[in-house]
Amino acid sequence: MSLGMQDSSGFHRLRIHEVAPRDGLQIEPVFVPTDRKIDLIDRLSLTGLAKIEVTSFVSPTAIPSLADAEIVMRQIRRVDGVVYAALVPNVRGCHRALACGVDELNLVMSASEGHSRANLRMTPRQSLLAFEDIVDVTAGTGVRINASISTAFGCPFDGAVPVETVLGLVDRIAQLGIGGVTLCDTTGVANPRQVGVLCAAVLLRYPQLNVTVHFHDTRGLGLANALAALEVGIERFDASLGGLGGCPFAPGASGNVCTEDLVHMFEAMGLNTGVDLDRLLAVAGDLPALVGHAVPGQVLRAGKADRRHATLATVDR
Ligand code: COA
Ligand code: ZN
Repeated sequence: MSLGMQDSSGFHRLRIHEVAPRDGLQIEPVFVPTDRKIDLIDRLSLTGLAKIEVTSFVSPTAIPSLADAEIVMRQIRRVDGVVYAALVPNVRGCHRALACGVDELNLVMSASEGHSRANLRMTPRQSLLAFEDIVDVTAGTGVRINASISTAFGCPFDGAVPVETVLGLVDRIAQLGIGGVTLCDTTGVANPRQVGVLCAAVLLRYPQLNVTVHFHDTRGLGLANALAALEVGIERFDASLGGLGGCPFAPGASGNVCTEDLVHMFEAMGLNTGVDLDRLLAVAGDLPALVGHAVPGQVLRAGKADRRHATLATVDR
């Protein structure tokens, strides 16, 4: 879809993927109790989101805040039509996730060596080999696979990441039969023009691939980048409730583009996200109490654009 295009049923539904339970909570210094994580996800399930990234099956030493991955994955109440995904860094994580009946594995690798080593202790090449093993292990289970490419727009260690490098990785991922790719701006260095160029190049090369974008608002460009991706035809967006999030192994990382702000923008533009914004805002409103600090979301503070304030009752003459 390009911006403003309609099919016979009206606007396509943009697909919003909520990553706060994983990308958001992984960086929180305080452990959110398991039952409260489950409650958060259960409430999010009722808002019309297309996908929820529930947790990570990673080392509990590396990410203590998600050490309860099995319990959370098993105890959430699943709603038809919502895809329940989990991040998986290696074959071991894949086995753990499959044992809990995830709908989708979100494999993760980096486009750059520096971030790859810091985050995954592997080179990008080794990640691709691990992907191959995971594809083998998953074959026949019916579980879908998506591959996230971190630092696709630049790396805090290595600097610029050429478009050709990312396209080369997408080639390898597509050759493995993986049906979805997420282009991640891990430390919020992307700009809208760059986003348009990379997204258009990937879509042109792989029109059948489900391409998602994952932006961080580190430099205030999250929504602008999402809009740039939309304009070249991207329909899938990761976002994090309240704007929580960040990679603990990327210096200076901060929150994802905020889900309720993103939905608010798309809906204000007349686009269909399928998300009930009021319901989503109600869940977002409870986040500060959950994580113990204020969250960066803007619409939660300001109210929706159609909010009206009472006028002053009297005016001094
Ligand atoms: N699930 C549980 N534990 C795991 C695991 C998994 N999927 N993968 C590795 N481990 C354990 C190892 O058994 C080891 O445990 P130990 O210290 O008790 O012996 C520990 O993690 C570290 O293993 P190590 O061999 O030093 O490294 P590794 O190469 O096996 O693991 C990672 C590397 C990337 C799997 C691990 O560092 C990790 O999970 N990091 C988190 C990455 C992340 O979530 N980043 C943010 C999101 S992109
Ligand atoms: Zn992220």
